[in-house]
Amino acid sequence: MDLESFVERFAVERRGTNCLKWDALQERFGDPDLFPMWVADMEFSSPPQILQALRERVDHGAFGYGIPDDSYFEAFDAWAVRHHEARVERDWVRFATGVVNGFHWMVNAFTEPGDAVLLATPVYYPMHAAVRNSGRKLVTTQLVCDESGVYRYDLDDMEKVIAENDVKLFIACSPHNPVGRVWTEQELEQVLQLCERHGVLVVSDEIHQDIIVGDRTFVAAQEVAGGKYAGNLVTLNAVSKTFNLAGLIHSHIIIPDAGLRARYDRWAKGVVQTELNILGATAAKAGWLYGDEWLDGLLSVVRRNDAEFRARLGEFTPHIVIPELEGSYLLWVDLRGHLDPAHVQEFMTKTCRLAVDYGEWFGQQCRGFVRFNVATTPANVDHGLDLLTAGLAGLH
Ligand SMILES: Cc1ncc(COP(=O)(O)O)c(C=O)c1O
Repeated sequence: MDLESFVERFAVERRGTNCLKWDALQERFGDPDLFPMWVADMEFSSPPQILQALRERVDHGAFGYGIPDDSYFEAFDAWAVRHHEARVERDWVRFATGVVNGFHWMVNAFTEPGDAVLLATPVYYPMHAAVRNSGRKLVTTQLVCDESGVYRYDLDDMEKVIAENDVKLFIACSPHNPVGRVWTEQELEQVLQLCERHGVLVVSDEIHQDIIVGDRTFVAAQEVAGGKYAGNLVTLNAVSKTFNLAGLIHSHIIIPDAGLRARYDRWAKGVVQTELNILGATAAKAGWLYGDEWLDGLLSVVRRNDAEFRARLGEFTPHIVIPELEGSYLLWVDLRGHLDPAHVQEFMTKTCRLAVDYGEWFGQQCRGFVRFNVATTPANVDHGLDLLTAGLAGLH
């Protein structure tokens, strides 16, 4: 589906619909009138086939406890094979009430209070909270960025941090939020190998697996080197980013290794008694079965918005580095060439009137960076860019 048709058919007003992105601006940013480019959520309605499947489910009228059937797993498997060449056996899958809850649970299930848990920063801020809030020790290795804005793992530092802190678990982000990398198989293998060598369990958050903007194919951690590291791995995924379904609170925990699965199940028995969210599962299945064309349309919008963002800021100033957007719909922008990092929050809210995610949320060293969400209409991105460039112009 082309960009114009996608926007015309699926753009929706979110303000006034109990929407975190638009309706929580006062609570989150202290000002209800900012223009929101924060939080990974979109201004598009989900594929019509998802809406139809939900309507049918709602029309049935009963919302008692549900179970997944074969058709659910067949649809998931077909999508995973078609899009990622990943094969997931039905026995490996457990359900969670969202990926964020999923990584909180993994930290609790597989580590003890006081154990060290590793993050490669900058990275999605709820991961920091998951470690801190569960009484574990948060340790970090910093991704390193070269002059053209490409972020990579610093394997030597990672190994040092793991050894010095006796790290037990690493929460990986692939594709990476916020730096937009789709890791190569070689990069993934280096990290998986390192973790395996040091007895560090890897929890791979792959929620952005379908939002592939550049040319590189996404490789699921489970498939690296023909599945060589699957025994030391838990994958968390969902189609909530793919089809804008986050409010339906449904995701997967995939544990290929029987021993790890038994450990998780023992832990889960004591704390997780939730059955499947039937609306979440209904929506996900319809997305896997019928969502390809919609996703193509979404990606064409994200590509346009990404290009426009770079063009407008590039014209305006050569000093702003934005890493190439290989995956996700989040742009990681370094404003330190223009502003004292201490003033970025005030500049964004008071001068530009924008609500964005701030660099320091993703890693202490990232004060002065800002994350912009471009999964919205071109008109919204253009408006956000008008606000941003006017603000920047005022600085000079
Ligand atoms: C890397 C990553 N993990 C998880 C989530 C959210 O997951 P959920 O809504 O399923 O809890 C996001 C949302 O932005 C994300 O970027």
